[in-house]
Amino acid sequence: MRGEKICVTKTQKGLFAFGDKCPHNGASLSKGFCTKENEIVCPLHRYSFDLESGKATTGGAFAIKTYPIEARENGVFVGIKAKWWEA
Ligand code: FES
Repeated sequence: MRGEKICVTKTQKGLFAFGDKCPHNGASLSKGFCTKENEIVCPLHRYSFDLESGKATTGGAFAIKTYPIEARENGVFVGIKAKWWEA
C-alpha cells in the first residue's frame, strides 16, 4: 500500500479510514464532506459512500476501500494489509 493516500474522519458513529481516491473518476475524497447519514460525498460528481461498508449510496455500483481503524492511548492505528513481498 505504499504511496496510497488514506483519509481518516471522525463522525458520530466513530472513526473511519478509507482510500482517498474516488472509485468513480479518481477525485480526492479528502476534499469532500461527511453527511449526517455517515457518508463521504465526493467533491467532483457528488456520489456518496457509506463510511462503514464503503458501498455507494448514490451514483451506481461503486465502493471505496475501507480500512480498520482503532484509537488507543498511544495513537490512532489504521490496519493495512502488507503484501507478501513487502514483509
Ligand atoms: S470522481 Fe467522485 S463521484 Fe465522480
